[in-house]
Amino acid sequence: MELNHCTAIVTGANRGIGAAFVTALLEAGASKVYAACRNPGAADLEFDSSDPRIEPVALDVSQPQSISELAAACDDVQLLVNNAGLFAGETLLGAADVAAARKEMEVNYFGPLQMSRAFAPALARNGGGAIVNVLSAAAIVAVPNMGGYSPSKFAARAMGISLRAELADQKTQVQNLIVGSIDTRMAAHVQGKKESPATVAKAGLRAVKRNIPEVDTDEFAVSVRAAHARDPAKLEQQMAAALKLETLNTGR
Ligand SMILES: NC(=O)c1ccc[n+]([C@@H]2O[C@H](COP(=O)([O-])OP(=O)(O)OC[C@H]3O[C@@H](n4cnc5c(N)ncnc54)[C@H](OP(=O)(O)O)[C@@H]3O)[C@@H](O)[C@H]2O)c1
Repeated sequence: MELNHCTAIVTGANRGIGAAFVTALLEAGASKVYAACRNPGAADLEFDSSDPRIEPVALDVSQPQSISELAAACDDVQLLVNNAGLFAGETLLGAADVAAARKEMEVNYFGPLQMSRAFAPALARNGGGAIVNVLSAAAIVAVPNMGGYSPSKFAARAMGISLRAELADQKTQVQNLIVGSIDTRMAAHVQGKKESPATVAKAGLRAVKRNIPEVDTDEFAVSVRAAHARDPAKLEQQMAAALKLETLNTGR
């Protein structure tokens, strides 16, 4: 897909990887970017809100009404970036109930699914375009200390593959991005090397231009996929050991 002069929408655009996508799209020549945020009037937006090519719009991806109203208003969209995401930080059995896991599924799986359903007709009318799903290395290997987050990203990854088949006839590309370790608020608790949000946006837009179905956006994502390909059982054991260590350290 050609990005020059395109119109795009990015969810969770106010900060982190979403804001980096807004900036990278403009650098790639986009004419208009709808920056969809829960609070588009907030003072701490991480993109340049004075840029006339950016149109901040209100969106909560867990509210179907919010999604359908936005799709009706933004009928010129050619590229949808499903970026908004939630990490609740609870284990599956340690949480008091399934509310956190349900919320992660709502935001990380049903949100992108409902966005894709709502925007697919506009993408078709506007020439096909593309859908980008911002996923995680936790969609390649189940991470026990990421409770409901990992299952929600597995589901979203499968969704992307199925949508690619369903949307092929209308010439809509689907790009699944496997993201590893990036320096954003969501990963504030993560130790070790973290790359910039711009790294993900750059890799994601390259995947759109070249129509690459799935891409590992950073070094950590690459290393997880390699470890999984080499010895999936060993990687699973390492994940279980990490959970044990965290339980010992935090007493949870
Ligand atoms: N950072 C990493 O290392 C990493 C690794 C793998 C995957 N990812 C994925 O990258 C994506 C972006 O995350 P990030 O790292 O940039 O983290 P972040 O800074 O925490 O950003 C998360 C974004 O999602 C938005 N959001 C959460 N719930 C929402 C909802 N119900 N409706 C609309 N927006 C909602 C947040 O909006 P508010 O400001 O209103 O809360 C925020 O804009 C996520 O899908 C995440 O799973 C990140």
